[in-house]
Amino acid sequence: MKDLYEQCRARSLADPESFWREAAHAIDWISPPETIHDPEHGWFAGGTLNTAWNAVDRHVAEGRGAACALIYDSPVTDTVRRWSYAQLLDEVGRVAAMLSARGVTKGDRVVIYMPMIPQAVFAMLACARLGAIHSVVFGGFAPHELAKRIDDATPRVVLTASCGIEGTRTIAYKPLVDAALCAAHHQVESVIVFNRDALPAKIDAPRDHDWEALRSVTAHHPVPPCAPMASDDPLYILYTSGTTGTPKGVVRENGGHAVSLAWTMKAIFGIEAGDVFWAASDVGWVVGHSYIVYAPLLAGATTVLFEGKPVGTPDAGTFWRVIERHRVKTFFTAPTAIRAIRKEDPDASFLGQIGTGALRAIFLAGERADPETIAWAEGHTGLPVIDNWWQTELGAPAIATCFGLGDSRRKRGSAGFPVPGNHFAILGEDGQPVPTGKSGAVAMKLPLAPCAFRSLWNNPEGFAKNFQTFPGYYETGDAGHFDAEGYLHIMGRTDDIINVAGHRLSTGQMEQIVASVDGVAECAVIGADDGLKGQVPVAFIIARAEAPELETLASRAIARVRAELGAVAALKTAYLVPQLPKTRSGKILRNALRKIMSGEDFAPPPTIDDPSSLEAIRSVVHPRAAA
Ligand code: COA
Ligand code: AMP
Repeated sequence: MKDLYEQCRARSLADPESFWREAAHAIDWISPPETIHDPEHGWFAGGTLNTAWNAVDRHVAEGRGAACALIYDSPVTDTVRRWSYAQLLDEVGRVAAMLSARGVTKGDRVVIYMPMIPQAVFAMLACARLGAIHSVVFGGFAPHELAKRIDDATPRVVLTASCGIEGTRTIAYKPLVDAALCAAHHQVESVIVFNRDALPAKIDAPRDHDWEALRSVTAHHPVPPCAPMASDDPLYILYTSGTTGTPKGVVRENGGHAVSLAWTMKAIFGIEAGDVFWAASDVGWVVGHSYIVYAPLLAGATTVLFEGKPVGTPDAGTFWRVIERHRVKTFFTAPTAIRAIRKEDPDASFLGQIGTGALRAIFLAGERADPETIAWAEGHTGLPVIDNWWQTELGAPAIATCFGLGDSRRKRGSAGFPVPGNHFAILGEDGQPVPTGKSGAVAMKLPLAPCAFRSLWNNPEGFAKNFQTFPGYYETGDAGHFDAEGYLHIMGRTDDIINVAGHRLSTGQMEQIVASVDGVAECAVIGADDGLKGQVPVAFIIARAEAPELETLASRAIARVRAELGAVAALKTAYLVPQLPKTRSGKILRNALRKIMSGEDFAPPPTIDDPSSLEAIRSVVHPRAAA
């Protein structure tokens, strides 16, 4: 059944305004948009709305206050808790009152550096209610990265928790925040700390405030009303890796975001009010923003917030248990998570015992879903496993199988078809479309769908760069091709971004850090294939002739990346090599390094300056094979 999808796609391309006007009816507007799209003002200009109203208050106002909004399932603290929409409204109102008491108003920035606890969701929605712009920073980033984001976003307040629980480890967050604030030039007015029993933090007045104490003090303050936001007012800033060491602050606007996300819940994920949806991601990533917090709540569905890992919390059955226990209808995760489960439980015995309850489909994104992983999951669950492709910049899937429109076509290895509202072209270096089947740059014709970014925070030049290579198109940074049946295949990046366990990281940034280690003359970091995480970074280092403590150079480089970028970088391997393979013009042949790492045979590229450099590296990486 693809007719409905084809109709929607054709309509969205032929008459995007009518298509998105109709979709905008799903949202409660304070004042309706004056135009649907205008090149200067973007989507739904003239309209005002409040995203938190649409995600929370509205459902209560419509008499659905008793319906379940949020389930917190935390195997690491042995907790399951539920909030109805009315209770969620109360919590969001309380946090909004707390923030308001700390002086936060419309347009202020609030940085949220929190683990996967309900307070993170309350905080995001409270910001949205006040019209404050939240910027959630993933907990796996080190203080240095947090400081960069604080300096760029210049928040009035930072919200954090005393600790995160990562599998079996408790990670103190407060010292990380303190270190970041010491390193940052920007001074925040307040830090509000949610103290967890697992590891409470010391509260340093007057800057720091205890979350619960502040909540009690402001308990009788009136709940601040939902601020009217222009459609193009920012809802949040989410930093993502670019090709330099400076993260890019993707700005998400209120109007287009709300309309797009509400549409995707029905059309892609097949979710209606009252259904249970679970995205096993983290609120620090775009998947968490869109599909843990905003989209399920905009749809009036129940969202699951899971604090745990696919394995080890306590075992490889934990995902199936959550799915079965809460009657999850649609589940969204990263291919890495399925690979981790498969590695621990290859025969899916947990799945056999627990079952999949009310589950109807599994969606995978964040990195390429390899056919074997899809085959394993489909084989054992008997359910459709649907790849979908998108990026932080886009905010919602742009390639998928629109399950909610009744489409069931899938081809393993392909991310699916263009989602209505998204117009793809595969372009060659000359900017012209390449023939079907041939690989090229994946570009998207302007205007982008309503959820997509229209600016980068404080970075107009960085934003403009995305549209310079192919005038009239957005350059996604991915390479891929259309096949003869119209499926889109995404094959990898055209830049130095890599995907480690669904986390987007810049090898260029890691190279900058490694190069700053005393004794490093030159280095290259590449993404090597990895059976579990998809890719992992590997560093190749040439030591300076007089390098001190040569024997610890590689481990010092690894430790520096962990200290500066964070544990999430997952750089565990660094080789000292005599030389790097380069072209005659001095460009490092990273592809050759990748092939050496994976043990592939390949002919040295004709542009190589010194073919013996390959053998030298091979003998370091695969010493036994060389012997
Ligand atoms: N706070 C602090 N540290 C964190 C963290 C957080 N929120 N998230 C991850 N880390 C740390 C981990 O503890 C680990 O540290 P270590 O090197 O000391 O072990 C490191 O960062 C890498 O973490 P991770 O990528 O999670 O690897 P892992 O080896 O701990 O777990 C998997 C492997 C497969 C279980 C895990 O990668 C996973 O769940 N992947 C799915 C990812 C996902 O859902 N991505 C969503 C994007 S849409
Ligand atoms: P992020 O902005 O962190 O969501 O990362 C976006 C990048 O992840 C994309 O540009 C792709 O390189 C990669 N990616 C995300 N989803 C997929 C997918 N389904 N298939 C292949 N690559 C993907």
